[in-house]
Amino acid sequence: MSLENSQHGQTLNSHNLPELDEWRNLHIDQQPTWHEHPDYPSSIQELSSLPPLVFAGEVDRLRRRLANVAEGKAFFLQGGDCAETFNDATADKISARVKTLLQMAVVLTYGASMPVVKMGRMAGQFSKPRSSNDETRDGTTLPSFRGEMVNGFDFTEEARAHDPRRMVRGYHTSASTLNLVRAFTTGGFADLRLVNQWNKGFTANPAHARYESLAREIDRALKFMEACGADFEALKATEMYVGHEGLLLDYERAMTRIDSRTQNPYDTSAHFIWIGERTRGLDDAHVNFLSKVRNPIGVKLGPTTSTEEVLRLIDILDPEREPGRLTFITRMGAQKIRENLPPLVEAVKSEGSKIVWVTDPMHGNTISVPSGYKTRRFNDVVDEVRGFFEVHEALGTFPGGLHIEMTGDDVAECLGGSDPVDESAFLDSYESLCDPRLNHRQSLEIAFLVAEYLARR
Ligand code: TRP
Ligand code: MN
Repeated sequence: MSLENSQHGQTLNSHNLPELDEWRNLHIDQQPTWHEHPDYPSSIQELSSLPPLVFAGEVDRLRRRLANVAEGKAFFLQGGDCAETFNDATADKISARVKTLLQMAVVLTYGASMPVVKMGRMAGQFSKPRSSNDETRDGTTLPSFRGEMVNGFDFTEEARAHDPRRMVRGYHTSASTLNLVRAFTTGGFADLRLVNQWNKGFTANPAHARYESLAREIDRALKFMEACGADFEALKATEMYVGHEGLLLDYERAMTRIDSRTQNPYDTSAHFIWIGERTRGLDDAHVNFLSKVRNPIGVKLGPTTSTEEVLRLIDILDPEREPGRLTFITRMGAQKIRENLPPLVEAVKSEGSKIVWVTDPMHGNTISVPSGYKTRRFNDVVDEVRGFFEVHEALGTFPGGLHIEMTGDDVAECLGGSDPVDESAFLDSYESLCDPRLNHRQSLEIAFLVAEYLARR
């Protein structure tokens, strides 16, 4: 790792690279209206001169890891909040989430005998596309909440105003979150020999009990290897990457730097950036801007995606057909995946591109219950995951990864699971400001399920 990083010196600022600003002349959706704000120029200036959050060498390494996924030799796990909040960037919440991701990764690595590329939907996931610009409550209309990098959640004029200084706060919150993620994953916390200490107690729950027994098995295997004199370096630390939706192009552009070694632009706000279902227009700003940076890029694909769109996205975002560059994250809905996914996978397959296919079984399965909460049924989530594996099995392609909205905490936001959550728990334990997340147990359960499917292949 140190050798790789040393090849990449510092990253330089990216002034005077006109192609990085082409998007400014294109159609763009879902942006804040803050360009006339008195603090806009200074916020952009400040972001542009702050240090990068990630380095080019790490981004390139992730691209190589994802190339392995594209070849069917590794699995890609992405998980985290729908929207992070500034106040929840605490040691407890971050460590609970990292621990849960590590547990899921262990279950997958062990169950499927396959390396897992681990990524937090973390350290930058602070902006949200919305279906409406405004929200009306009791006759008062205010701008919709667009994530804490844009405005506040409280329903007041003050909170809902778009404030560019929030981008700077988002940067600093991302920096401290990422710092803790790096510390945890390389500083001893992620040592596989501590595998049984990541569980959150409550072994009465079936998912926890199952994890306990898996952890015991791993522990025995490690002790056996230790007795044999095996070398443990690879077990002591792990790589964890971060990614978020690259929605706010003001922020992403300001965080883009030129790598001094290769002279290529990197969006240094995160290792991985994805384009949302609502902003993936082929001729629009988001696709244009992200086509110019070297980061691995994801695109969310909903149920109405056409094969033509998919092939054009490949041409624009991955013209070199570089394995690991492009990931399609499908969010079809449990009802539709078996019908709508196969044509897309088939088109890519006959075109010959090595794309990473990831399932997001969350966003196509959101429902509202009469009490007003947005929720998801665990069974629908499971059914979409199952559909994803069935489709790839039938086509002989590799089901490359899983993208979920989850938390390490004991929330009640999604219905069901083996220790079922029901609606009556929402009042006390529904915390999300945005979409409902799988709790710790439900996340583990999904990991066991996916590990079984992968092992069966
Ligand atoms: N380095 C290996 C890996 O990342 C093994 C490993 C160490 C690991 N700590 C881990 C795997 C935590 C999963 C979770 O795969
Ligand atoms: Mn969401």
